Amino acid sequence: MSDFVMDIWYFAGISKDVKPGEMHRIEIAGEPINLGRSKSGEVFAMRDICPHWSAPLSKGRIVDGTVECPYHGWRFGTSDGTCKAIPALCSEDKTDTQKIRVRTYPIREVGALIWVFLSKDKKGEDPKVDPPSIPFAKNKPIIDDIFMLDCPMDQAVIGLMDPAHGPFVHQNKWWRTQGSMHDKAKKFEPRPLGFAMAAHSPSSNSFAYKLLGGKPTTEITFYLPGARTEEIKVGKRTILSLTIVSPVDDERTTIRQLFFTDMLKFKMILPLARSGARKFLRQDRDIMALQKMGLKYNPKQMYVGDADAQARWYFVIKKEWAKSRAEGREFVNPVKPQTLRYRS
Ligand code: FES
Ligand SMILES: [Fe+2]
Repeated sequence: MSDFVMDIWYFAGISKDVKPGEMHRIEIAGEPINLGRSKSGEVFAMRDICPHWSAPLSKGRIVDGTVECPYHGWRFGTSDGTCKAIPALCSEDKTDTQKIRVRTYPIREVGALIWVFLSKDKKGEDPKVDPPSIPFAKNKPIIDDIFMLDCPMDQAVIGLMDPAHGPFVHQNKWWRTQGSMHDKAKKFEPRPLGFAMAAHSPSSNSFAYKLLGGKPTTEITFYLPGARTEEIKVGKRTILSLTIVSPVDDERTTIRQLFFTDMLKFKMILPLARSGARKFLRQDRDIMALQKMGLKYNPKQMYVGDADAQARWYFVIKKEWAKSRAEGREFVNPVKPQTLRYRS
């Protein structure tokens, strides 16, 4: 049974994915969405199923502020989804086209990121919350990697935030090995709709950081439903790595990793960083594909000790979010400031 987080902003893509006058079909949480951009530059999102005979509107075209269906040419306003024209009707026909509507979704483009609000209530609802605030993600990313994970959203999220698999899944001469495992104590704090590992100097076994020079600090933040940012600061410069997982359906999840930086030095090691990041993420993909061998039997899972605390937090935050929306009250973050101790 689907158990997606609802009444929340889902990541739908980055600005350069949709050029003016273009439309693309994406699927989030089982919803087929026509993500488009008008010729004047505004993004829009509507259900990618024509209310007439179900053709995908994303395969039509944009004309005069409407989307024209490729099958019989019905036109729907990009902002409210109401039907503006049914070309096959004669002028004396009494059909009130205004009563026909395709679902539209609230959409926001903030910096380089596009967010679509998915609500439980299909009539659409005014989002009372804002999308995650990630101000540094405003220009073109210098690394952009996207692929499909063959695993459900929940497993993708807890895998993304999991500190314990590094020495096993990401064993690597230049990154870390099982031999380099050691005790760690990391401070965590609640954040709006998530939590953060407070800014700290990264562990000494992370050789890649040494390449950056200077004394870096890094802060890792999680935002419901599935975004993780790692912001590394060296002096006045920043490297932001943003990894976002989005559920396609119950079985598949997309993962996108974006890097933004104003650090020239980082641009010099870009090919190295790019191939390192790609490799890293594919190691995650491969272990999740293996994990599926177990998941298909629907087993219970164990969340043990501080190492699995973030996985537990994800599930309680998700639950509290659904509960607070159902009860029409403020979300109360169940995560309290604390130090987690684990080995990795
Ligand atoms: S299916 Fe879209 S106009 Fe007929
Ligand atoms: Fe990983």
